[in-house]
Amino acid sequence: MSNPLEFEEEEFTTQFNGRTLQRILAQTKPHWPLLVGFVLLIAVAAFLDSLFTYMSKLLIDEGIVAGDRAAIFRIIGIYGALIVVQAGTVFGFIYMTGILGERIRYDLRKTLFAHLQKLSLSYYNRTPVGWIMSRLTSDTDRLAELVTWGILDSAWGVFNIITAVGFMLYINVPLALIVSAIIPVIVVVAIQFKKRIIVEYRQVRRINSQITGQYNETITGVRVIKSLGRERENLEEFGQLTSNMYRAGFRAAWLSALFLPTVQLLSSAAVGLVIWFSGWQAANINVGGTTLTIGGIQAFITYVTFMLWPVQEMARVYAEMQQAIASGERIFSLIDAEPEIVDRPGASDPGTLRGDIVFDNVDFYYEPESPVLNNFNLTVAQGETIALVGPTGGGKSTIVNLICRFFEPKSGTIRINGVDYTELTQHAIQSRVGIVLQTPHLFSGTIRENIRYGRLDATDAEIEEAAKIVGAHEFILALQNGYDEQVGEGGSLLSVGQKQLISLARAVLANPDIFIMDEATSSVDTLTETLIQQGMEVLMEGRTSFIIAHRLSTIRNASRILVIEDGKIKEMGTHSELLRQRGHYYRLYTQQFRRELEREYNPFGADAVAVGDEDDAAPVESPTSQLTPA
Ligand SMILES: Nc1ncnc2c1ncn2[C@@H]1O[C@H](COP(=O)(O)OP(=O)(O)OP(=O)(O)O)[C@@H](O)[C@H]1O
Ligand SMILES: [Mg+2]
Repeated sequence: MSNPLEFEEEEFTTQFNGRTLQRILAQTKPHWPLLVGFVLLIAVAAFLDSLFTYMSKLLIDEGIVAGDRAAIFRIIGIYGALIVVQAGTVFGFIYMTGILGERIRYDLRKTLFAHLQKLSLSYYNRTPVGWIMSRLTSDTDRLAELVTWGILDSAWGVFNIITAVGFMLYINVPLALIVSAIIPVIVVVAIQFKKRIIVEYRQVRRINSQITGQYNETITGVRVIKSLGRERENLEEFGQLTSNMYRAGFRAAWLSALFLPTVQLLSSAAVGLVIWFSGWQAANINVGGTTLTIGGIQAFITYVTFMLWPVQEMARVYAEMQQAIASGERIFSLIDAEPEIVDRPGASDPGTLRGDIVFDNVDFYYEPESPVLNNFNLTVAQGETIALVGPTGGGKSTIVNLICRFFEPKSGTIRINGVDYTELTQHAIQSRVGIVLQTPHLFSGTIRENIRYGRLDATDAEIEEAAKIVGAHEFILALQNGYDEQVGEGGSLLSVGQKQLISLARAVLANPDIFIMDEATSSVDTLTETLIQQGMEVLMEGRTSFIIAHRLSTIRNASRILVIEDGKIKEMGTHSELLRQRGHYYRLYTQQFRRELEREYNPFGADAVAVGDEDDAAPVESPTSQLTPA
């Protein structure tokens, strides 16, 4: 996969995407009363803001200049009452915006999560977990921000400007027109600044996360670095990064510093225009229009000066909108991803499955250019135990993935009880197949909860019974909290062997019709190994089972052993038949047998060898003929 940092930081879409914006805004649709409510309140608040300035004008002209005390008191009284109304509306719209944001975040996360449950395994194959996590967290946040505070700030800005221009027109038409001409200029300048500042800050953030990554690597890998004498090169790389960060930070600071004075300069120019125009109008009474009063001039100056803020806010929203649109595009790409495996119309769920399984000319690949199975044929009767062995990458896990229908054949059919399994629902199959994986996954919680995951309505007694059957009961009781012991995230507080025993108990509880086990490759101690072995035998009894075996001792009793190599069955037969054939299986087996003997007689020396070799079940080139197992 590509660098996770790049994944995280790719934030801009190349172009402005109106359709995505529409779709983002459509998220508010189910909550339209909230949206309409808060936009109306913002309109009221913005109108009141402008009205206050106009009332100051009245106060000056009709109260102070005219010397009318009654008018002063009346205006101040109304002013006071309106301020209370204003406070109420501000409270109302902030509250409603907050609620709207939470609802949208909730809706999005729910939709995304529900969709993730539907997607096929192949989607998770292609997509890094971190990427999906960011969609669920930072992207939904950013999107909710845009449709709430973004709408709020821009609505407030637009209404503020409209009402201010309205009042200015009411006071003096020609001057209002002149002043309004300056607004678009300020808006454009402000947007340009904000955009650049955001780009620089993003650059700073990106380099910062690279630096953190490098700190991390350098400190954790300090031994390797020292032993290879790489200190100087590291220092150079690091110096490059920090100086890039310094430059980007410097540019951001410079632009931020320049931004406010520039915009202020523009609005001062507008104020200058107001003063010049009123002077000019007073000197030329004959030009027509209403002459500006002192209060009028004061009002104009206030309108022009305060218009800076809504303009700034709108510029910020606009600049950030592109990020939110990029977030939206990624969220929608996830929502729009189609699950590759879907239940066919009319698919049925017979409730139970008999484990007669047939692979009929099955072709399969993960990527079209590298086929894994080609014309694969296999017939398994109910109750058989099929062991799959062979070199790594041979296709063993692929075969069981197909049985579970995590993937479907590209051509050919898989039949269960004579029925093409695509005529069954996925639930019909997956709920009747019990799987214990190579790296068993436990969920955070207690051991009890993890076993109960196999059948949610199981009683505590049934859970303990299942643990006893697979031989996990003793080790669980030996833990400090017994069945209530926390397993940690992903079961990290337990050993692999313990996790596998718990997975086995979970499978026993689920009582599947078909049992699949991808044996653990990592070394478990002999006692645990025996326990796992016994647990597996209980599960295999009477059920069709597929065991991918790495320790061949576990499959001696299998009904049939398949040596899988390059997606083909190289050999098939029982343990003793295959040994007699003296082929792949024989070589595999003798090699492992010899290793085990060595370990038995020389536990220390042989262990050191075994650790590295344990994982590969690959056939060895030279058969060890002197040691023929019984
Ligand atoms: N999710 C995947 N996406 C793409 N290719 C895959 C995927 N899983 C397996 N393959 C490829 O398919 C082939 C068969 O892999 P498979 O996992 O079935 O082998 P295996 O026999 O289970 O190996 P091992 O013993 O290491 O578990 C390999 O070439 C592998 O690279
Ligand atoms: Mg495998």
